[in-house]
Amino acid sequence: MLRIALATAVAAFTLDEDMDPLRAACAQAGVTAQRVAWNDPTVSWQRFDAVLLRSTWDYTDQLPAFLQWCERVSAQTQLINPLDVVRWNTDKRYLGELARAGVPVIETHYLSLADAPDDFPGFAEFVLKPTVGAGSRGARRFVADEREQAVAHASALQTQGHEVMVQPYLAQVDSAGETALLYFAGAFSHAIRKGPLLPRGSAATRALFAPEQISARQPSDAELAVAERVLDALPFARPLYARVDLLPSPDGPRLLELELTEPSLFFDTAAGAAPRFVAALCDAISTDILHRTATTG
Ligand SMILES: Nc1ncnc2c1ncn2[C@@H]1O[C@H](COP(=O)(O)OP(=O)(O)O)[C@@H](O)[C@H]1O
Ligand SMILES: [Mg+2]
Repeated sequence: MLRIALATAVAAFTLDEDMDPLRAACAQAGVTAQRVAWNDPTVSWQRFDAVLLRSTWDYTDQLPAFLQWCERVSAQTQLINPLDVVRWNTDKRYLGELARAGVPVIETHYLSLADAPDDFPGFAEFVLKPTVGAGSRGARRFVADEREQAVAHASALQTQGHEVMVQPYLAQVDSAGETALLYFAGAFSHAIRKGPLLPRGSAATRALFAPEQISARQPSDAELAVAERVLDALPFARPLYARVDLLPSPDGPRLLELELTEPSLFFDTAAGAAPRFVAALCDAISTDILHRTATTG
C-alpha cells in the first residue's frame, strides 16, 4: 500500500479546500495519505513513498528555507513536483524565460533588490507584486496618478527582501475573470474561472490568500492553445500537476502565472477530478519506485 504525505502549512490546515476531496480519493484508491505541515520538524519524510506539495503557502517569505526542505525531502523520498521544477517555478522570473521562448506572457518588468524602485515604465493602470508570491499577497493595483504610492510599495517590498515585478493591468479580468487550466500528468483535466482580485485603490491582502470567487469554466480554444504552448516550452517534461493561469487581453489570452508548486487544484469544481489526479499520482509514484529499485540494484 502506498503511503504519501500531503504537505501543507499550519496556517492552511483549515483553508485548503482540496484536502478533503483529495483524501477521499486517496482512501478510495487504497493510498494512505497523511496531512503534514512542511516545516514540522518532527516528521520523518523517509517514511513516505512520496511527498506531495499541496498548500505550503507560507513559503513565500522563507523561500531559501523552503527550497532547503525540498532538497532534504528529495534526498529521502520522491518529491512531487520534483525539486528542479520547484526551484524553477517559485520565482516568477520564469515568465521572462517563457516569453523569450515565444509564449504570450503579460508584459513584465522586473526590479531586483539593487534596482531603483521607480525604474519601471509608465502605464495608465498597472500591478506591482513580489516575484516570489502566492495568494495575491503583496499585489497591488495602481493608476498612473498613483505612481508615488506605487514606488513606495516597490521600495517596501524590496526592503522586505522581495524582488518586484510590474505589469500593465489587464482590465478585461474585471468582467471576464481569470481562467485557470488544470493539467494532470500532462493532460487537460478541467478549468475554472476566478473573479478579479485587485479592486482599484485597495491595499494588499493581509490574509494567507485573498478571498477568491471560483466557478467551473469551459476554456476557449485560444486558451487551450496557449496552455499547450506554455507546457511545451518548459525546460523539463510536463510534471504531474500544472495550473496555467491566463488573463484575457485585446490580443488574446496572456499568461499571468504558471503554478507548478502549490496550486489549488479546485477538485470540487469538476466531477472525477480528484480520482483522476490520484490515479496519475499512483502511476508516477510506482514508476519512480520501479526506477529506483532498478538503479539501486
Ligand atoms: N497584470 C494583471 N492584470 C490584471 N490583474 C492582475 C494582474 N496581475 C495580477 N492580477 C490580479 O492579482 C491576482 C494575483 O496575482 P498573481 O500574479 O496571480 O499572483 P499570486 O501568485 O499571488 O496568485 C490575480 O489573480 C489577478 O486577479
Ligand atoms: Mg495567482
